[in-house]
Amino acid sequence: MKKSNGKIKYNIAVFISGRGSNLKSIVRYSLKNKTLYKVKVVISNKQKATGLLIAKKMRIESYYVDLTKSKKLGKRVLNILRKNDIKLVCLAGFMKILPAYFVKSYKGKIINIHPSLLPKYKGLNTHKRVIENNEKYTGCTIHYVNRFLDSGKIICQRKVKITKKDNKRSIEKKVLKIEHKMYPKIIDKILSNL
Ligand code: GAR
Repeated sequence: MKKSNGKIKYNIAVFISGRGSNLKSIVRYSLKNKTLYKVKVVISNKQKATGLLIAKKMRIESYYVDLTKSKKLGKRVLNILRKNDIKLVCLAGFMKILPAYFVKSYKGKIINIHPSLLPKYKGLNTHKRVIENNEKYTGCTIHYVNRFLDSGKIICQRKVKITKKDNKRSIEKKVLKIEHKMYPKIIDKILSNL
């Protein structure tokens, strides 16, 4: 925990697997607003994730570790988190299920953003399935992470309307737009309750 301008700042970690647009919005928000958090560490399970380049550009300590591959790697990440006094782990486009021992070690302190109105459309290819099922609405959900896929307690959801003109790409764009607005604010809100 650090004090900046007399305000407490909690260290958070962001886990990614790819593009990192949510990572970018989380970091940007913390730089522009009086947030309670600082993104201290970024962990990617993919070596070539664009999000890692974003982290480097923003001078954030970042690591490529596929923590789901072995307990040894998972423990390495837990050590990084502890060393950096991480209060909250935010999954942002992290496409693996965290092992049970890992979730237990950070119980109630790992959250995820998912591009659907959970409990509908857990897992991959959400937008494609939403279109195939002629849904009128979709959206995104932020939830606590447990050891099951996209199943932890829901923290917050936002809806977007699907029109006849929409396709997979346009829905992805709409949903990402609300994700980028919602995630940083929810992180701050959770930390304000610590
Ligand atoms: C986001 O839409 C996020 O909700 C989704 O992946 C995208 C990552 O984009 N996450 C999942 O599907 C997790 N099950 P980003 O890398 O640009 O933030």
